[in-house]
Amino acid sequence: LWTPEHIIEDQIARVRAKVGSDEVILGLSGGVDSSVVAALLHKAIGEQLTCVFVDTGLLRFNEGDQVMATFAEHLGVKVIRVDAAERYFKALAGVTDPEAKRKVIGNLFVEIFDEEAGKLANARWLAQGTIYPDVIESAGSRTGKAHVIKSHHNVGGLPEHMKLGLVEPLRELFKDEVRRLGVELGLPREMVYRHPFPGPGLGVRILGEVRPEYADLLARADHVFIEELRAAGLYDQVSQAFAVFLPVKSVGVVGDARAYEWVIALRAVETVDFMTAHWAQLPYEFLGKVSNRIINELRGISRVVYDISGKPPATIEWE
Ligand code: XMP
Repeated sequence: LWTPEHIIEDQIARVRAKVGSDEVILGLSGGVDSSVVAALLHKAIGEQLTCVFVDTGLLRFNEGDQVMATFAEHLGVKVIRVDAAERYFKALAGVTDPEAKRKVIGNLFVEIFDEEAGKLANARWLAQGTIYPDVIESAGSRTGKAHVIKSHHNVGGLPEHMKLGLVEPLRELFKDEVRRLGVELGLPREMVYRHPFPGPGLGVRILGEVRPEYADLLARADHVFIEELRAAGLYDQVSQAFAVFLPVKSVGVVGDARAYEWVIALRAVETVDFMTAHWAQLPYEFLGKVSNRIINELRGISRVVYDISGKPPATIEWE
């Protein structure tokens, strides 16, 4: 009989048998899958696990501190936090094409992860949050987190002594099973049942060139939206919700003067498989409240719009 406890017990035994007393590295992203792997491996091998968390500056509001609070402080997991925001913004300066931005972000992640892995000279294993849908979904699609590292470390030209074996304890599991494992392992429910967040993060939610001041405004606007969705009990009723930064100047009135400021779009969808989606019919009153908060609380935003496009033809993300 399948129960989360059984899977955990079984995987703990398998991981221990596989890695013995070797050290293991895991790229912790803050997403559900890598979080569950971190909790599971911590339980299985404790101090032998080192997580590398790369703060790209393109994460959700306060995500870096939250990841550290949950894993390092609360669970006692060894986590190396790399504050790489400046590097990301530098690498992204002048890059406007969405796929080019994805490449820059993905490549830089691999580069930084390798630097950190190189410092952990004793590591022999690379753990990944690969889940069953990642296994069956062939490469070539938009980069999921796992694929990037995997292809690099095993196919790429790393020196022999850095070739790492793979530990993928979630390989046979579906998302809902991974979530149940997470809850069983004691991860906060809120983290385990979060909406998906794309690997390139806010990088593809800032249309065109990514700039630090845009990322800051966007993270804050997004936070207001998510906070209000939770407060209204609507968060779990939509499959994914987020804000998008539109780098166009729209007119607003500040005091007596006309001011030209940025626009935020809100997107919320209902979907089963993310292949097709309906825009979520959120209550007008709710949308009004979110709009007022964003405009009143964030300097530089004078207009908020709601995306009422279905997929297809519109994709869920704007880039
Ligand atoms: P689209 O925009 O293609 O999104 O309708 C479908 C789902 O995929 C997510 N998405 C990504 N996830 N890297 C990711 O890890 C990406 O480059 C990427 N692009 C889109 C999107 O958030 C939605 O859940």
